[in-house]
Amino acid sequence: MSAAYHPSQKIYFGAAYYPEHWPEDRWPEDIRLMQEAGMTVSRLAEFAWSTMEPAAGEFDFDWLEKVIEMLAEAGMETVLGTPTAAPPAWLVTAHPGVLAVDESGRKVQFGNRCHYCVNSVEFHKASARIVRAMAERFGDNPHVIGWQLDNEYNRVCYCEHCQKRFQEFLIDTYGTLDALNQYWSTAYWSQTYSAWEQIPIPIGYHNPGLLLAFKRFITASYRAFQQMQIDVLREYIPEETWITHNFMKWYDLYDHYEMSADLDLASWDWYVGTGYTDYRSSGAAHDLVRGFKRQNFWLMETQPAHVNWTPLNNVLYKGEGRANAWHAIGHGADAVLYWQWRSAYGGQEQYHGALVDQSGQPRPFYSEAQMLGRDLEKVSDLLAGSTVKAPVAILFDYESKWAFEWQRHHQDFDYIEHLLNYYRPFARRNIPVDIIPADASLDGYKLVIAPALNILTPERVEKLADYVEHNGKLVLTVRTGMKDEYNALLPNRQPGPLAEIAGVEVEDYYALTDPVLLAGQRFQGNAHIWAERLRILDESSVNVMASYGAANGWLDGAPAVTVRYTGRGFVYYFGAYLEDNIQDNTLGYIANFAGIRPVLEVPEGVEVCRRITPAGTDVYIVINHTRGERVVELPWSAQEHLSGLVLEEGIKLRGYSVAVLTKTKQEEI
Ligand code: GAL
Repeated sequence: MSAAYHPSQKIYFGAAYYPEHWPEDRWPEDIRLMQEAGMTVSRLAEFAWSTMEPAAGEFDFDWLEKVIEMLAEAGMETVLGTPTAAPPAWLVTAHPGVLAVDESGRKVQFGNRCHYCVNSVEFHKASARIVRAMAERFGDNPHVIGWQLDNEYNRVCYCEHCQKRFQEFLIDTYGTLDALNQYWSTAYWSQTYSAWEQIPIPIGYHNPGLLLAFKRFITASYRAFQQMQIDVLREYIPEETWITHNFMKWYDLYDHYEMSADLDLASWDWYVGTGYTDYRSSGAAHDLVRGFKRQNFWLMETQPAHVNWTPLNNVLYKGEGRANAWHAIGHGADAVLYWQWRSAYGGQEQYHGALVDQSGQPRPFYSEAQMLGRDLEKVSDLLAGSTVKAPVAILFDYESKWAFEWQRHHQDFDYIEHLLNYYRPFARRNIPVDIIPADASLDGYKLVIAPALNILTPERVEKLADYVEHNGKLVLTVRTGMKDEYNALLPNRQPGPLAEIAGVEVEDYYALTDPVLLAGQRFQGNAHIWAERLRILDESSVNVMASYGAANGWLDGAPAVTVRYTGRGFVYYFGAYLEDNIQDNTLGYIANFAGIRPVLEVPEGVEVCRRITPAGTDVYIVINHTRGERVVELPWSAQEHLSGLVLEEGIKLRGYSVAVLTKTKQEEI
């Protein structure tokens, strides 16, 4: 855990506020409305570079200081954003090299955002200057509790400078061209490199080794840019002031675990976009971000009502936004901030949802936000310092995701969708899940699932084998153990060195045109998308749980799902990608067998999350994610903290309503 971030003393609530869009005499009214909504924090300045530094080296921070003061007087803290996602016009004119170059070699046009080349020396210099100036002015401001660096890092640059830096990166990584040529199998199609300068930045599909190396280079580039900002800030800000970046759920331009390693706190921006919330999938994104630093996170942005950037920007149902906020908190969010406070007259986001409209009056959604503000006032103390604990870990690996998404082999095989296929059965049963990096410690988990862990390193193999040897319960799935860390095929059959603990190997794999019926003692249903023909290596310890019915001839009758028992542990191998219903039954069975119980049994559509306070009190957050009424029966009498009622038997939840419960007697089970 980072020194600067501790599970927070309260659950913060606020919005992204852009006072630079509005005349100063409007600020008091905005702040009054924030206060009336129960807000406790505001995020400022993350796009305000041209206002803070109107010309090179000329700074104007008085307005910002005034707003921070006014917010503080109204009881609100500030998170300051460094504005590097919005390099101003004067900078790109003076130093055109700061502009990124796109895939076709064109310089990115000024006038949107994130138009910078992350490796540009001039851009690093200009960024360091504005960050230093902000830090000098606000570093010791007691109302600034944290800093957000940049905003949603998201661009790849193809300029000559980046290519040169990539080549240097390769020299550092591989040492010699001989090694690189060997790891990348460059004899294939005569790709052998005889000089580092020949190595391109990949455009489109390319040599798999080169593609993976370039992803690592992108991570290293953003990481260096981020570290530069951290180093500047840390010269000025107190130890307890945290630094974060707002990531975007499954977005995978770079490795988020590496990026998060240098931050104190992980945060992310959650937008539903078109449609409505499917909490059994969205919970996974929260769990993913909680796994970035294996601690609570901030929901730095979320949508009030609707967005402006999808083909159909529908509004969330009335009540859904508040339910979503509680969903985030239930999964470990220590803050919920809406984006944005008020619709600006101009700029590219005129039609985005906001709490206050262009006229300065609250929009209908404001009243829902106000309800959330009231909720949090009531339970902030109760939730102080509380955290989420999960018995199940799902391993996530950016490199495996990249490796097979470059070669999906079946258009419908999506790494995240496949992961969610393993996540949803737990979400439906209200069993908490941690989503953690493939190299994290597995201590304490009752069940570990490694979905499509395509890339294996010797360390990974050793860790998984060790977990199983100590009675761990492991589930391996299709496409596991095919590649090495250079994205080359492993010389042995899939699942590579894991065949030993699985007791099976894959003789061949098939992208399916049609579903295949599986038959087993317990499970009946279809495999779709992907099927592997398994061969049992160790008849004495491996049981076949399901076999293929009539399929393409090659699969017919072959084992599809196996389990190898190892002392008190086991290793499942799923050679088939199961359809949702059979997957749900199968994973339910496995969870039960592993001794994992739901947090609470509740009707379909109701989610129960549990946060545990430092004193060991379980706090149950019960959310009705449907529009209809649901009755939740309770096995114990409970205190409901939003209404103040004591519940003896159960609770009726109206559509999208929420309850926050503790047992009236802690010793009750
Ligand atoms: C986010 C971004 C915000 C705002 C928002 C609109 O991705 O960080 O600045 O543009 O989208 O939905």
